[in-house]
Amino acid sequence: MIIAANFKTNHTRSSTKEFVLDVNEYLEANTNNEVYIFPSTTALDKFDTVTNLNLGVQNAYHVEQGSYTGEIGSIQLEEFAIKTILLGHSERRHILKESQEEITKKFNFYKDLGYKIIYCIGEPLEVKNISYEETMSYIWGQLDGIDISYENLILAYEPVWAIGTGISATSDDIKAIHLGIKEKIDKPLLYGGSVKVKNVRDICLIDGVDGVLIGTASWIKEDFIQILENTKDI
Ligand code: PGA
Repeated sequence: MIIAANFKTNHTRSSTKEFVLDVNEYLEANTNNEVYIFPSTTALDKFDTVTNLNLGVQNAYHVEQGSYTGEIGSIQLEEFAIKTILLGHSERRHILKESQEEITKKFNFYKDLGYKIIYCIGEPLEVKNISYEETMSYIWGQLDGIDISYENLILAYEPVWAIGTGISATSDDIKAIHLGIKEKIDKPLLYGGSVKVKNVRDICLIDGVDGVLIGTASWIKEDFIQILENTKDI
């Protein structure tokens, strides 16, 4: 399974270091999962990890360097050997108002650099409430301009209404959307939205689920390690 932790605006440089070292130690003895951690950019560092533990960034600008106050470009990432980026997350789309055009620019820039891209898609509640067809067409819109054949692409289906709410999508919903996406796109597909220690195994066992992208439940180190433990044989 692919298990990814999105720290969002949580953890400090020192607590991230402790987290990464402990997860790495756990993975030295348990090598099955492919694990990604997305810390805040101030916590980036050169971590000496096992090959199946990767550090990525939650966001970066589509430039190598230049005059873009407050942004970071690829030369700042290279310093820490970062080769993984999260794009299209609902908080960036909805709270930070990132447009599909802007996301596509980032996608193309980091694709050209060969980055692994975890690309998020997912509908708000008002769209889900209309119909399955409407939900799928909303999701296709979020893939507008995106090269879905890119070899280093991982998709993450994260319904907006399930993120940080404690209410995960039902197994039937997850299965229907995942199989709908997989009919058209042959890429690993994660589910995200209120994944917890208690439900992670059941979610990972759903048809069409290749792993999970976790926010809240990934911030507590012991919980995240338990999540890895609960999924290591799937
Ligand atoms: P959550 O967040 O696990 O807190 O619902 C998921 C995400 O935003 O990736």
